[in-house]
Amino acid sequence: MGLVHRVLTPDPILTLDDYVVARGGRGLEAARTMTPDEIMAAVTSSGLRGRGGGGFPTGRKWRTVIDNRSASQPPTVVVNGAEGEPGTFKDRTILRLDPYRVLEGALIAALAVGADEIVVALKQTFTTEIERVRTAITELDTAGWTDGVKVTVFEGPSEYLYGEETALLEALDGRMPFPRIAPPYRRGVDEVVETPKDLRTGSGLSAHVELAGPVSGDVAPPTLVNNVETLANVPNIVARGPAWYRTEGTEESPGTIVCTVTGTTQRHGVGEVMMGTPLREVISLIGGGPRPGRRIAAVLSGVANALITEDQLDAPVSYEGLAAIGSGLGSAGFIVFDDSVDPAAVAAGVSRFLAVESCGQCTPCKHDGLALSDELTRLCRSDVDAALPDAIRSRVGTVADEARCYLATQHQVVVNSLLERFPQSVDSHAAGSAPSIAPLLVSELVDIVDGQAVWDERHLDKQPDWTYSAEWSGATPVDLAADHRAHRTG
Ligand SMILES: Cc1cc2nc3c(=O)[nH]c(=O)nc-3n(C[C@H](O)[C@H](O)[C@H](O)COP(=O)(O)O)c2cc1C
Ligand code: SF4
Repeated sequence: MGLVHRVLTPDPILTLDDYVVARGGRGLEAARTMTPDEIMAAVTSSGLRGRGGGGFPTGRKWRTVIDNRSASQPPTVVVNGAEGEPGTFKDRTILRLDPYRVLEGALIAALAVGADEIVVALKQTFTTEIERVRTAITELDTAGWTDGVKVTVFEGPSEYLYGEETALLEALDGRMPFPRIAPPYRRGVDEVVETPKDLRTGSGLSAHVELAGPVSGDVAPPTLVNNVETLANVPNIVARGPAWYRTEGTEESPGTIVCTVTGTTQRHGVGEVMMGTPLREVISLIGGGPRPGRRIAAVLSGVANALITEDQLDAPVSYEGLAAIGSGLGSAGFIVFDDSVDPAAVAAGVSRFLAVESCGQCTPCKHDGLALSDELTRLCRSDVDAALPDAIRSRVGTVADEARCYLATQHQVVVNSLLERFPQSVDSHAAGSAPSIAPLLVSELVDIVDGQAVWDERHLDKQPDWTYSAEWSGATPVDLAADHRAHRTG
């Protein structure tokens, strides 16, 4: 198996004309001759699963949005381009190479669910992608592709939680990116709430929670949120049919997957492979394999899945393949560690990232999360008293209690995998025999330049209240937002 090019074009597509020459637009053209049910049937039988991390079946999500329509307002399609998973750069790569394919997929989704608006949600810092998408939207508007659908770009905050879809809707509604509850579809762009609309400072807690499911009366319309890569798959599914789509990939994970490889490999990059390609091969194809004289000892599949061990490297890269080894595909961002890297430092880095990024709506996630991060840092420093390993174990057991979103479970899963899969690293620090080491920097990718990942080093200075002050205020982001609201209204 090698690299493929279903979603990632080998060369950038710079104009709409070039896109059309490259057979772009055929999906939308076909969709315009189909009923919403026919579009939905094609997407459902293709087996496409969401590429934002959860792998939720896309057709089923679209169907839920239709089944729960508002009587008076059409739904909105939101393209999730927040891409904040550490070690993932695939959505920005797709948008840089070919924003037209993503917009075409979103326009087809809008036809299927009856939406009259598409919002492409990016981060304010993604200046290259913002420009690419805005230019593409202007071309599509001029060419009449968007008739009847308003397409805009939203420039969101840089917080990790902004990518979580309910937090993203909060941000679109003008509040801080604090998660709400409940899959599989969302209500919530243009919800009427009485909180101020100042994104960075004016917001309180997240809006009232609306569970998915049948409701009586006229309510806010459901919102369809799909990841950039998910939507980039849609035009070909509609133009060429679900059977064609299934000619690559596996029964449970049809199609291809766009992977990011970073860490201690010969180079870093983004590439597309068939679902089911062995992980070792993906690392070799995109990252050139381990550095000379080294062997791969562990792989982190984003910060939501168990660390993968050396003996699991031949597992197929698919939803079921990585689940079978007790890990997960996530957004296919693989951070590779060779035998020179201490797994305790990896877990401590993940723990710090997640504890800082936690919003604080759930006390165990923020407070146990920060305590866990401190304890793992002490473990790495080999600054250990006899009670520390048990304290870490116990904290891992409670960090996800009553969690409103998945971030707390991510923390639990990754640290648990250190304890269970790398006991020698934990034991040698606990015994004081391993050298003192700092937690690894685990943060968002800023870019990949000439085969080298650029990590967000500013994260080292980010405080648990999401400021960059010299010292932590002791408050959580939620406390700060609530204080600010009280101040404004008091
Ligand atoms: C903490 C957290 C961060 C997330 N960040 C992103 C992100 O940056 N981009 C994304 O597409 N999905 C992200 N997700 C997943 C989204 O919540 C959601 O599942 C996804 O946008 C749905 O699209 P899909 O069905 O096309 O995968 C995140 C989830 C969590 C829990
Ligand atoms: S689980 Fe953590 S990140 Fe998620 S809502 Fe609760 S405190 Fe915030």
